[in-house]
Amino acid sequence: MDNKELSGFSKWTQSEKINWVIEQFCSDPKAAQATLKNFQYDSKQQEVLNGFSENTLSNFPLPYGIAPHFMINGRSYAIPMVIEESSVVAAASAAAKFWKSRGGFSAQVLSTIKEGQVHFCWSGEKSLLEDALPNFEALLREETSTFTENMRQRGGGLERIRVIHLPEVGPDIYQLRFHFETCDSMGANFINSILEKAAELWPQYILEVSDNQEEMEIIMSILSNYTPSCVVRVEVSCPISELGDFPEGMSANSFAYRFKRAVDIARHDVFRATTHNKGIFNGIDAVVLATGNDFRAVESAGHAYATRTGQYRSLTQCEIKDDVFRFWLELPLALGTVGGLTRLHPMASLSLDILQQPSARELMQITAAMGLAQNFSALRSLVTVGIQKGHMKMHLYNILIHFKASREEKQQAFDHFEDQVVSFGAVRKYLEKLRGERS
Ligand code: MEV
Repeated sequence: MDNKELSGFSKWTQSEKINWVIEQFCSDPKAAQATLKNFQYDSKQQEVLNGFSENTLSNFPLPYGIAPHFMINGRSYAIPMVIEESSVVAAASAAAKFWKSRGGFSAQVLSTIKEGQVHFCWSGEKSLLEDALPNFEALLREETSTFTENMRQRGGGLERIRVIHLPEVGPDIYQLRFHFETCDSMGANFINSILEKAAELWPQYILEVSDNQEEMEIIMSILSNYTPSCVVRVEVSCPISELGDFPEGMSANSFAYRFKRAVDIARHDVFRATTHNKGIFNGIDAVVLATGNDFRAVESAGHAYATRTGQYRSLTQCEIKDDVFRFWLELPLALGTVGGLTRLHPMASLSLDILQQPSARELMQITAAMGLAQNFSALRSLVTVGIQKGHMKMHLYNILIHFKASREEKQQAFDHFEDQVVSFGAVRKYLEKLRGERS
């Protein structure tokens, strides 16, 4: 296929694109056509989804589930989750139920500032830039006042600007670092629009105030997804004696210390820390997706935050003091409850309704509680019975679906595999035997 034939691809109709992909690449054109059609909606709903991205052929559904039992700052929540991985919703619900009877989650937003950068080259004095900054900031505020009015009325807007020299990149490389408060919106468009206006005005302004007329060259302007000043902290705690009993006769005390050791290992070992944090993001991403927020932004900020001491560490911490078990999570979460997809996507809008129309701050607390719940469940399994028991149950279910097992066959298989190792081959053999016996 040469490029000429594909020219103007984005302007082709959806059917033309589908036919082209199927003809060119699909091994079973009829099945491919049927699958794409199956997951398309009727015109009105599909139009909304088509508007989110380019070259849309169909939709890719993921399970939309709910984790009940969450008690956060004394308020009850059932939290919507979009996730394909078995056991994640069940694990979240189990942890939420466990902590509900022990006071629930207490969460606190520590700060909500987001940052953006304009990078530029400048061969003049740094002091000239610093001296020019206060008047430039006033000019920028004036030039963007119509655009920022709404945000300012909600208590947000541009907070401050700094000049930062980056000599490690080059002697003439600088950035303007902007701080923003974007209230209930994630604020990407707001921030980027102001940054681009600043990038337009800054060289002109410096040219006006500079005697020796050094050239300034803008390199790029964009928000930073690293948001170490948009941080939430969530905690659970209870006396060790109230932790209860654990499988195979493990005492609460033994559980608490094993659990703390598991967290400490993830504080110090990058291989374990990565898996540990992955488990936290199993929960966080699922809520971020369900509410129409940007999970890539949240993940990159979280992982960068995990390295803030110079080593990649677990995002959760655990302490045992005076026989009280304390477990907490602190991470950056730049989330919105207005703007972006949050209201445009019908399912995201429904999620926010289920969450009782939270503010961005509340959504940060809810999402962080989900991350902590997920991590608690994973570690509880890991330091007691291991995770395979729970995972394999769902895995078995998926294998049974693959073999089109009837309801009766599923029940028999669940009983049979209660104390057997689950594998694709073992389930196939079991079903073959079962079906052979019956025929
Ligand atoms: C699996 O998706 C997540 C876990 O590996 C997390 C962990 O090990 O802490 C269970």
